Amino acid sequence: SHRIMLGPLVAAIDQGTSSTRFLVFNSKTAELLSHHQVEIKQSFPKEGWVEEDPKEILQSVYECMERTCEKLTQLNIDISNIKAIGVTNQRETTLVWDKETGEPLYNAIVWLDLRTQSTVERLINKTPGRNKNHLKHKTGLPISTYFSAVKLRWLMDNVDEVHKAVVSHRAMFGTIDSWLIWCLTGGKSGGVHCTDVTNASRTMLFNIHTMDWDPELCKYFGIPMEILPRVRSSSEIYGLMKSGALSGIPISGCLGDQSAALVGQMCFQDGQAKNTYGTGCFLLRNTGAKPVMSDHGLLTTVAYKLGRDKPACYALEGSVAIAGAVVRWLQDNLGIIGSSEELEKLAASVGTSYGCYFVPAFSGLYAPYWEPSARGIICGLTQFTNKSHLAFAALEAVCFQTREILDAMNQDSGIPLTQLQVDGGMTSNRLLMQLQADILCIPVVKPSMPETTALGAAMAAGAAEGVSVWSLNPEDLSEVTSEKFEPQINPEESEFRYARWKKAVQKSMNWET
Ligand code: G3P
Repeated sequence: SHRIMLGPLVAAIDQGTSSTRFLVFNSKTAELLSHHQVEIKQSFPKEGWVEEDPKEILQSVYECMERTCEKLTQLNIDISNIKAIGVTNQRETTLVWDKETGEPLYNAIVWLDLRTQSTVERLINKTPGRNKNHLKHKTGLPISTYFSAVKLRWLMDNVDEVHKAVVSHRAMFGTIDSWLIWCLTGGKSGGVHCTDVTNASRTMLFNIHTMDWDPELCKYFGIPMEILPRVRSSSEIYGLMKSGALSGIPISGCLGDQSAALVGQMCFQDGQAKNTYGTGCFLLRNTGAKPVMSDHGLLTTVAYKLGRDKPACYALEGSVAIAGAVVRWLQDNLGIIGSSEELEKLAASVGTSYGCYFVPAFSGLYAPYWEPSARGIICGLTQFTNKSHLAFAALEAVCFQTREILDAMNQDSGIPLTQLQVDGGMTSNRLLMQLQADILCIPVVKPSMPETTALGAAMAAGAAEGVSVWSLNPEDLSEVTSEKFEPQINPEESEFRYARWKKAVQKSMNWET
């Protein structure tokens, strides 16, 4: 059988909180040619704790790569056309491994994890005026359980093996990108220990102005700088794949998943924004070459730096901890649905929550509140309320949380967004998309190729110096087709429901204090 002639191909590893994917794109058209996905187990060893197994994560990457290559071969596509691989990942998730044995010294502590709540409270109480924004001028971030530094501190204080490895100079710290790149480029026999500026900007150890690790911040958290990976741009050759079917191919793109989605959605201009619905939900707005500090509870983060000599771009970010995770909770913990499709059906069968509000503050509340002591609540119940109303309230919660960060974003920038570009797994839920437009009172626009996160990482990899099969010029890409959801309810109705939501949020606050 004949081989299909294609231009160079680019690939991406997309290692998210709930699953790993490997995807291969045609660099001429951005068409997705093949992919494979594997779910990742999360363990909850104690209340509020969330862990993942670093070796399972690595294994899932290899498995996805192999399966995707098999599928390509079946499609008569020559895998030697793959010219570059990008890595994109769940951010902040923290691990430490031994560089001599290559073994992780503890599970990865997932970004959502709350075990550092008391450490965070202690740190905030120590700052002048109990100011959680004490380190924001350097990091763009509030002191929170969310970021890597406190998780790393916990590992050093509570895991003997980590402590020992640190004092004997055998420890390597990394977020998931660093772990994967180190392993894929050879691990204990010559693996490259690096991260990119976007991932680094989520650790709380990185100075977003100097674009490097900050000795003062490292001292503040008591982190020895020698365990940190080298910080690189988001688009350059970090190293070559060491084994497997793709051995020898450069890994040349690296971006935190939310940054990658911004790139994949072509939000290269100051003012452009996207919202990604994954485990959590993250709205990022490009602010161009300057970091803008929020007065409304948003984060300032590095959006991307697409090449060693290219300037860094910054973004304002509204982070919501629980979006897709609420679906998984309804399924695994309450058992009221068997799948996410069922949730949509159940919610659609009633079309209203009947006054039921569900604030899924499982990990405290992130933006714009940054309140680790908030806890989830369901309120407004009557004898009439049933599981369909609860399902509807869960979807509405995702939309209300997005509305809160959109409002904050509009206030900070002074220029309201006139429509919202969206992506991520939950965007296949049409009811959710319509509800989102209704609650925001602006149109919601969804690209027809939903894998924008992977696309962004693949683009960065393909555009790297020394690879250059892909320009990052949006005009070079074939027209991005999209679907638009227009608001359908009247704004008063929308405001009424949003006001109720805010009341419910107030009730979820300070639960643990
Ligand atoms: O900050 C956490 C974020 O990067 C995780 O993304 O898609 O796994 O929810 P996701």
